[in-house]
Amino acid sequence: MNKQFSDNFKWGVATSAYQIEGAIHEDGRSESIWDRFASIPGNIKDGSSGAVACDHYHRWEQDLDLVASLDLNAYRFSIAWPRIIPTGRGAVNEKGLDFYDRLVDSLLQRGIEPCATLYHWDLPQALQDDGGWANRATVEAFVAYTDAVTRRLGDRVKFWITINEPWVVAVIGNLWGQHAPGLHDPSVAAQVGHHLLVAHGQAVPVIRANSPGAEVGITLNFTPAYPASDQLTDRLAAAQVDLFTNQWFLDPVFGRGYSDGLWHSFTANPPQIQPGDMETIAVPTDFLGVNFYSRSVVRHVEDSQPQFVQIPGATYTDTDWEVYPNALYDLLLRLHRDYGAQKMYITENGAAFSDQPDANGYINDEQRRAYLENHLAACNAAIAQGVPLAGYYLWSLLDNFEWGEGYAKRFGITYVDYATQKRTLKESGKWYGEFVRANLPVKV
Ligand code: FCB
Repeated sequence: MNKQFSDNFKWGVATSAYQIEGAIHEDGRSESIWDRFASIPGNIKDGSSGAVACDHYHRWEQDLDLVASLDLNAYRFSIAWPRIIPTGRGAVNEKGLDFYDRLVDSLLQRGIEPCATLYHWDLPQALQDDGGWANRATVEAFVAYTDAVTRRLGDRVKFWITINEPWVVAVIGNLWGQHAPGLHDPSVAAQVGHHLLVAHGQAVPVIRANSPGAEVGITLNFTPAYPASDQLTDRLAAAQVDLFTNQWFLDPVFGRGYSDGLWHSFTANPPQIQPGDMETIAVPTDFLGVNFYSRSVVRHVEDSQPQFVQIPGATYTDTDWEVYPNALYDLLLRLHRDYGAQKMYITENGAAFSDQPDANGYINDEQRRAYLENHLAACNAAIAQGVPLAGYYLWSLLDNFEWGEGYAKRFGITYVDYATQKRTLKESGKWYGEFVRANLPVKV
């Protein structure tokens, strides 16, 4: 392919705190909603939790060496709120900040740019006990937490993501109950979604004040919806799914408010919206973070919810997500052309396959390698069409705790043997390093 990636393109990998750190009782960290959720039998498929995870809290230097060994120039991680303000609001735990301080310094020493996400789902349980994100006071608590983190790290971290995937928090956590806090409450889900966006909007100016010159944005998850046929009924069903899955959060961030029909598609109680909220949410940012894994294919069913169909002959990953890189291309063009996104980063993209080491200890994950190659080609093609894509963070550096799925789903370019915590770079990881090297400017 004719390479379109600019010389200052960010080439990274992504992780999140609860999925890799472990050390849940160390240095003053308090309980998060994920500790609580995982402790309830039946919530996590393999009965596991993030209590140990990849033990990254103790092995982080080795993990950063791995990032450096691939010549990546960027690393996306998240900060655990329960380490920083254990009771959710109030006193700051300096030891919690110290951990990320060391991490950031060590990244910079290795020539890797830190990209920090402030909320990747691990709310302090103390706040959930007061209603969690459905309680407007949690917005205020998030802003105070953001202030504490960015005051300490804002001189060195110049890339901030406020919230990761608010849709997943609202829907999977509060409507479908498959993620913490495990609720099945449509009106709570609607209110949670709105408060997450207000929290984002209020946090942006705080980050800008504490971290001059930083790039600040939000990361949304996208699963583009395609109709199962050209029939009008299927096209309308796909549009309905798209509205709920993709436009819910995209529209307000781009100043378009919530679409008509959004709330009534799942709740009789639209959220409470205070005067000024929609302006707060539409605060100008520096980029849109795009998490993309797959698409959905949708069929209309008479007198029922739209149905999701599988395509015969298509490849599906271990999480049953169709491998369909064209959807990433289409999505990037849509975000640029229809929404006017000025700058975008792929903040997550990757695939779970059930890899195992062979007799020689190699993990030849050809399906993941091909997935990466084809999705990077989609990025390249989108850039050739004028899409302002400025970076790509592969999910994930390590196999890790995949939320409700536990440890069975392996997304890493590094294999983790959980019994010994030994890390082994998979063939896809080696390939990614080569790909990045071939695209980095020649060092003089
Ligand atoms: C995304 C999450 C990330 C990871 C991937 C597979 O929704 O942001 O933490 O679990 O899915």
